[in-house]
Amino acid sequence: MAKAPKIIIKNAEQIEGIRKSSRLAASVLKMIEPYIKPGISTEELDQICNTYILNHGGISACIGYHGFPRYTCISINDVICHGIPSKKEILKEWDIVNVDVTTIVDGYFGDTSRMFAVGKISKEREKLIDMARTCLEIGLKEVYPGNRFGNIGYEIARHAERYGYSVVREYTGHGVGVYFHEEPYVYHKAPKDSWDLIEPGMIFTIEPMINIGAHQTKLLPDKWTVKTKDGSDSAQFEHTILVTESGYELLTVA
Ligand code: MF3
Ligand code: CO
Ligand code: CO
Repeated sequence: MAKAPKIIIKNAEQIEGIRKSSRLAASVLKMIEPYIKPGISTEELDQICNTYILNHGGISACIGYHGFPRYTCISINDVICHGIPSKKEILKEWDIVNVDVTTIVDGYFGDTSRMFAVGKISKEREKLIDMARTCLEIGLKEVYPGNRFGNIGYEIARHAERYGYSVVREYTGHGVGVYFHEEPYVYHKAPKDSWDLIEPGMIFTIEPMINIGAHQTKLLPDKWTVKTKDGSDSAQFEHTILVTESGYELLTVA
C-alpha cells in the first residue's frame, strides 16, 4: 500500500468514516474481554475478533499487511507488539496480554489496543499496566492545536522514566485513517517542542509501549514478534484520536 507523503487534514466525510471504523475497532476490544481466560489460544481469540468484525461490516487491516498472517496482533508478557496469534499459544493465569485491532470500514481505518489481565496477576504487572494506561492519558493532554507532536513523547517519557520504566523507541504512533500508517510518526520519547505542529482535522494514534526493564527490543525470526531484549514485561494501550478546534476527540470508543 502506498504511504501518504505528508500529514493529511481529514475532511468531514473522511472523519465520519474513520469515526465509524474506530468505533468498530473499539467494540471488538469490548466484545473480546470475557474470552480472555486461562486455556484459550491466541488463535481462537483472533478468529472470534475476525468473525465479529465481518459481522459488523468491516474487515481486518492486519491480515496481508506487509504479509502479516493473522487478523489481530496479540502480545503476551515480554512481547512488546505485533505478536502473531497461534494455536500453540495458550493464555495462562498471571499473563498480561495486549490485543491490537485495526479495522477497515468503507475504506477507512481505525486502530486501538488495550491490555487484559488473565485471571490473577502480580502487583508488578498490575502497576505496569497502570503505567502504560497513564502514559497514554498523559500523551492525550498534549493534543491541542498549536502544540507540537514532540511534546506528546516528551511528557510520556518524562513520566515513565521518573518511575523507573522505559519507553520503546523503535515503534511509534502514527497518522491513520485514509491509510493504515500515515505521517506523522508520533514518538513516545521526544525532545521538548520538537516535530510538527498539531492542527485540527489531523487523526493519529498514540500507543506508548512501556517496559519494566530496559527499552531495547529484539525482533524474532518470524520477522514480526517484537520482544524486550532483556525479557522484562511490556504493556501498551492505543487510541485513534481526532484533533478538534479546542483539543481532541477519542475516536476508538465503543
Ligand atoms: N496495529 C498496529 C499498530 O498499532 C500495527 C500492526 S501491523 C500488523 O500500528 F501488520 F502487524 F498488523
Ligand atoms: Co497503531
Ligand atoms: Co494498533
